[in-house]
Amino acid sequence: MSAESTHINSPREIPVSSAKLSDFPHNPIACLQQVHEECGEIAAIEEDGSKIVCVFEPKLIQQVLTDSQRFHSHFFALRGAKKSAQRRLTNGLLTMNGGDHRQHRRMVKKPFALPSIPAYDEITERLVSEMLDDWKVGEVRDLDAEMTTLMRRLTSAVLFGMDYPDLSEEIGHATDRWVRLNHDTGMAAYVSGSFSDQYEELLQLASDLEERIRDLLQKRRHSGELGQDVLSILMQAHGRDGAIDDSQLIGHITLLFGAAHLTTAHTLIWTLFQLAQSPFIMSELYDELTEETECSWDDKSSLGYRVLRESMRSLPASAYLQRFCSEPVDLGPYHLPTGTGVLFSQFMTHHRSEIYDSPFEFRPERWNDISPTPYEYFPFGAGPRMCIGAPMAMRSMGSILPKILRTFRLSVVPNVDINANVISTMLAPTTPVPVEIHAPDKQFSASSISGSILDLVHLPEMPATDGLRRAA
Ligand code: HEM
Repeated sequence: MSAESTHINSPREIPVSSAKLSDFPHNPIACLQQVHEECGEIAAIEEDGSKIVCVFEPKLIQQVLTDSQRFHSHFFALRGAKKSAQRRLTNGLLTMNGGDHRQHRRMVKKPFALPSIPAYDEITERLVSEMLDDWKVGEVRDLDAEMTTLMRRLTSAVLFGMDYPDLSEEIGHATDRWVRLNHDTGMAAYVSGSFSDQYEELLQLASDLEERIRDLLQKRRHSGELGQDVLSILMQAHGRDGAIDDSQLIGHITLLFGAAHLTTAHTLIWTLFQLAQSPFIMSELYDELTEETECSWDDKSSLGYRVLRESMRSLPASAYLQRFCSEPVDLGPYHLPTGTGVLFSQFMTHHRSEIYDSPFEFRPERWNDISPTPYEYFPFGAGPRMCIGAPMAMRSMGSILPKILRTFRLSVVPNVDINANVISTMLAPTTPVPVEIHAPDKQFSASSISGSILDLVHLPEMPATDGLRRAA
């Protein structure tokens, strides 16, 4: 039966929330909570003839994530004119669909496949050690700045190698600014329709960033030496069969940089923050980390594994995802015409109380007893577009976090505001996250804090149950 003929049997009108589309960018999570409370598992947000359909039920999310033929991906950024640098920079996997996406994903995925990942251990170890050598007991450090810098340096090294550190660093900084400006410009377009000044700035920044990436490509080509970094591997794919042209290479590299370093940095920040505010959990974890037989965080029976899983559940770095219908499609009892935007959220799904008891509490021990489906827990997405960097992110976080937590005790500076919001679909700190650096003296204690983070996670000082370290 075709989608059109099914439509005749399913003419129901999709419920419309009282939330407006222009409310969404200010606080996407609060807006989604309002839509869900008012209208249930599937509903629209509208304004001035524009509409996005929000989907909350995991079975419906499964349909959207797995049917990549009808639910296409589109980039959150404004794409720019056809031959502009902005268009080329946004040419990565997230804007590709169908056969193009499958072909390019196969190539781009290769350097991030499991057998390649141990090659990045040494540089990870070196960069964390350099960061920790710089930290002194008694100092206050901003976790946001520290983790973002660490991940920018690590991502530069993995993507571009170590031959041109200054240029790689410049590309990293420019990419950060570009991601931020894409968000601001996109949101200004969403809210007011007036974004021309920011848009001009964005186009200029896109040209500068592209020029630097081209410079790096040229240097690599002229040196005649290709290394083991991701850029070299993709350039070889280019040379071998011409499968990736320069403009696609630029799009892939930009997306890889943007997708890799901020998501991982935010996950590190939220994990360290939640642990610092959960003294009993931190105390158990510290004992595990300092045991003679070191327990890897890959090991499902380790508390480290459950802490990281729980952290990505309670404050997922990727807060929501979007698709649009490439053809008419039935979703639940509703019919969606071509072009309808569809939005679904990790944050909302990870806080469904029928799957996660007391969902706003940070409780790693819950993972002893639950095994949600890939559509009930999807910090890295799911289906044919699932994150290609997930194994690498898990491995690097599983080595960075234990090293930090063994070397120092961190406590959140008392009486500060810790604020979070969704920026370019990522749940990010919007103000510094200051922590005091202490010797590893095991004197774990939570600090009194305020700020919007308290709307997103409740951090009990006492464990909810015994047996934190009970194996799954
Ligand atoms: C904790 C860290 C990370 C998180 C939470 C994360 C999250 C995600 C999510 C949710 C998606 C799915 C997007 C969608 O379905 O529309 C995704 C896709 C992607 N991620 Fe990650 N990611 C992380 C780290 C990385 C790293 C380290 C890399 C690169 C090495 C990377 C590269 C990508 C790419 C290229 C895609 C697009 C895949 C495609 O469209 O086929 N990510 N990521």
